[in-house]
Amino acid sequence: MTSQSTKTATGRGREPPKWRMGPASGAGFPIVDREDFSDATFRLEIDHPVMAKAAQPGQFVIIVTHDHGERIPLTIADYDRVKGTVTLVVQAVGKSTREMQQLCRPGTALYSMVGPMGQPSRIGEAKKVICVGGGLGVAPIFPQARAFKERGAYVISVVGFRNRDLIFWEDKFRECCDELIICTDDGSAGIKGLVTKGIAQAIEQHPDIDEVVAVGPPIMMKACAEATRPHGIKTVVSLNPIMVDGTGMCGGCRVKIGGRIMFACVDGPDFDGHDVDFDDLMNRLRRFKEEEQLALERWTETCRRLDMEPHTTTQDSGRS
Ligand SMILES: Cc1cc2nc3c(=O)[nH]c(=O)nc-3n(C[C@H](O)[C@H](O)[C@H](O)COP(=O)(O)OP(=O)(O)OC[C@H]3O[C@@H](n4cnc5c(N)ncnc54)[C@H](O)[C@@H]3O)c2cc1C
Ligand code: FES
Repeated sequence: MTSQSTKTATGRGREPPKWRMGPASGAGFPIVDREDFSDATFRLEIDHPVMAKAAQPGQFVIIVTHDHGERIPLTIADYDRVKGTVTLVVQAVGKSTREMQQLCRPGTALYSMVGPMGQPSRIGEAKKVICVGGGLGVAPIFPQARAFKERGAYVISVVGFRNRDLIFWEDKFRECCDELIICTDDGSAGIKGLVTKGIAQAIEQHPDIDEVVAVGPPIMMKACAEATRPHGIKTVVSLNPIMVDGTGMCGGCRVKIGGRIMFACVDGPDFDGHDVDFDDLMNRLRRFKEEEQLALERWTETCRRLDMEPHTTTQDSGRS
C-alpha cells in the first residue's frame, strides 16, 4: 500500500501527488479506448501488439497504473490481433481499482503491464459446453466461449448480473454463442435468479453437456461446481486468489486443489472445480480486509482534501 500525499516544503499544506502514468507515446502502454458499463465497471482497450498476438483465453496480465501504484492482476477479456489491442474489464472495488477508474482515460498510458500470464484455458474436444460468467466473470468468460465456438462446439453461455442496467456485451455473446441465458438477481432481465438456475435450465434441456466453465466470485464458482457435481459434468473454474509477483515465487496465490497445494499464477488460474477448496480460498481472500479498508479510506481522504477531480494526476512525464 502506498501513500499518495506529500507535505509541502513548509509542511503546512499538501501538494497534489506526483503520480506518473506512462506517457501516451513512447514508453508506457497507451489506453486507446474506454467505455463505462456502470458506475463501478469499465472497459479499457490498451495498445499492445505483442501482447495481443500472444494472448490466449484464460490468461491474465498484471498492471501498474502509475509509478506509486500497486500490482493489479486482471484477466485478458479480449484481444484484437489485427488492431494490436488488449481489452481489460475492471470492477472498481478498492483503492487501486478505484484509482484506475479515476485515472485511466484514452490519451493516458498504464505505467506497466506484464503478461500474458498463467496457463491458457484448455479448449478441448468438448462438443457441448456451458460457459458461465457472474458479475465480473462475464468479461473473462467471453474469450473462452468464442474459442469453444471456433473449435466447433455448441456453446451455451449463462451470464449473471444484479439487474438489467449492469448488463454488458450481450451482443458479443449472442454473436459467438448458440444460446445465451441471462440471469438477474431482481428478474429485470432474463431469468430471475442466480447463474445456477441458468445452469440447471441448460442441463435440463441438454442432457449431453460435456463441460462447464465458470468464472466469477469464489462463492459463485463454488455453487456452480456443486450444481454440476451430481451430474458428473466436468467443471473448470478460474481462481482469483491474491497475487503479488505472478511468477510462482511469492506463494501469495496458494490454493488447495484436491488436497494438494498449487499456485494459481503458474499452475492455473484454471482448475477442476470439483477439487477446489473454495472455503480456504475465501478465507485467504479476507486476510488483508483491514489493510484494504484503511488504504481505501486514506486514498478517499487524500482525494477529498485535494478536492481532486478525475484527470488531475500528473501524466505529463515519462516513466523514468
Ligand atoms: C488472475 C486474476 C484475474 C483477475 N481478473 C480481474 C478482472 O478481469 N477484473 C477485475 O476487476 N478484477 C480482477 N481480478 C481481481 C483484482 O485483481 C482485484 O479486484 C484488485 O487487485 C483489487 O485491488 P484494490 O486495491 O482495488 O482492492 P482492495 O481493497 O485491495 O481489495 C479488494 C479485494 O480484491 C482482492 N484483491 C486485493 N488485492 C489483490 C491482488 N493483488 N490480487 C488478487 N486479488 C486481490 C481481495 O479479495 C480483496 O478483498 C483478478 C484477480 C486475479 C488473481
Ligand atoms: S502470485 Fe506469487 S506465487 Fe503466485
